[in-house]
Parts: sequence; C-alpha cells; structure tokens
Amino acid sequence: MQQVFAQAERYLPLVMQPGRKFDDLAGHCVANIFFEDSTRTRNSFTRAAQLLSADVIQVSGEGSSTSKGETEIDTARNIEAMGVDALVVRHSSAGVPVNIADHVKCAVINAGDGRHEHPTQGLLDIFTLQRHFGPDLAGRRIAIVGDIINSRVVRSNIFGLRTLGAKVIVVGPPALAPMSLSTLGVEVSHDLDAVLPSVDVVMMLRVQFERLAGQSIASIQEYRDAYALTERRTRLMPEHAVVMHPGPINRGLELDSEVADGPRSIILRQVTHGVAIRMAILRLILVG
Ligand code: NCD
Repeated sequence: MQQVFAQAERYLPLVMQPGRKFDDLAGHCVANIFFEDSTRTRNSFTRAAQLLSADVIQVSGEGSSTSKGETEIDTARNIEAMGVDALVVRHSSAGVPVNIADHVKCAVINAGDGRHEHPTQGLLDIFTLQRHFGPDLAGRRIAIVGDIINSRVVRSNIFGLRTLGAKVIVVGPPALAPMSLSTLGVEVSHDLDAVLPSVDVVMMLRVQFERLAGQSIASIQEYRDAYALTERRTRLMPEHAVVMHPGPINRGLELDSEVADGPRSIILRQVTHGVAIRMAILRLILVG
C-alpha cells in the first residue's frame, strides 16, 4: 500500500497541474472493460494511462458483443489477443475480475465487482486521508454511513483502514448496516447523531437503488431524517472532521449540497488523487 502511495505522490503534481506527460508506459496498451456504468473510475483510469503515455481501449457492456451473448471471459481473451498489457475490469457481479484473471496472461485490475470490492477506490480514499491528516492514521475514527451492505467501496476501505490501525464505524439502518458486519472488525451503529461527535472523517455512501436498497428503506423521508448528512448534522462533528463520498452523489438524499460543496468536503480531492493512485498502480503492475 505504501509503495503505491509513494509512487502516487510523485505523480500527483502532474495531475494537479497538467504539463508534459510522463512516458513511463509508452508502448503499453490498457483496456478498460466496463460491464457496468461508471463516470469516475473509468475516466480516472483513462486519464491515468494517458498521463503515462499508454494507449487506451474502451470496451463497454452495452455496445459490445456482450449484448450478443458473448461471455465476459471471451470478451477479455479477445481484447488480450489484440496485444493489450492490462485489463481494467468492472462488473455488477462479485468475482468476475478474478475469474477473468484466471483465463488471461495479462494483468487484470479490479475496478469494482458487484458488492464485493473496489480496491483502487479504497486506496485513493486512504491516500486522501493520509495527505490530509498525515501518514499515521492509527486511532483515527472513520464513520462510513449509509448503504453499507451493498457497497464494495466500504469493504476495500475497511481492509485498508484497519491495516493502518484506524477505527471504522459503519452506520445505517439495520437492513443496510446489519450487526453481522462486526465480523469485519468494525463497530456497527444505527444512530448517526450519536457517532458524529467523535469522528475524524464521515464517508457518505450512495443509496444503491440498482442493488435494491430501496426495498430496505421504509420511506426516503425517514431515511433522510436519520442518516442524511445535512448542514445541521455537520455541526455535531468536531471542527477538524472532514466529509468524503466516492460518488456518484444522490444530492438531497444521503448528502446535502451545502455539505458536498462546503468547506469540510474533500470529495473532489478524492477524484484528483484517484488519477495519481491509478497511475501508480498501472506503473507498478506493468513496469515494476
Ligand atoms: C462507487 C462504485 O461504483 O462502486 N463509485 C465509484 O466507483 N467512485 C460507488 C457507487 O456506485 O455508489
């Protein structure tokens, strides 16, 4: 993890102030194979590869032969056969990237698989926290709030943050944040107002309606009343505490615009850091 962060730190100035590209990956080709929609992750990988002078191929579920019944593995093997060095794979089912990796020789990077993991998001979130609070995150308290059960972002964050000694509290209604999550080594709470005064970070998550989160919520208004991060609620947080969100945001549902665009928000910093993290990962995987 620290090796990725050290490399990302070297690349970050170029992302923040674009100038001449690096040629670290000149002659390499990266394919983004996204069987599920994405704005940030796909374009972040594209930008990362381009800033390192790699070529990029874009493959989507829609508009590709997946819609004709081709399997994900066939799609991946055919793209690899075009002389591609790395496949960046997103899929709505858990395990697809690893399954593809078993059937190709080139590198495969998980760009989010179902409700399972989203490793590059976890890394960019932790990189953002280290740049904000300093490298030592031991003892820091990070509340991750909302649709926990459907979130792949949460799992990758939990594994990384716990490795660094931070304390994670997952918060949401019982159907979206069941007590059984404590087996992942986190605290579970259903009371956001009680948690806010003692945290350093509040990471809000989107209510994932496409994963049927809506069926677990009695009413949107009730959800908002208990779990939305409103301007009023941010006043319960310590002065130094910051607000994160992996995007996309349901504005006015889990997060109010005044907070998303307010002084505590480091949401767009997450996005900028994401490019540097993905540059570092591509570089470390493809050239060592
Ligand atoms: C997340 C995802 O797709 O897992 N977004 C992202 O990659 N930045 C979170 C989400 O979809 O809510």
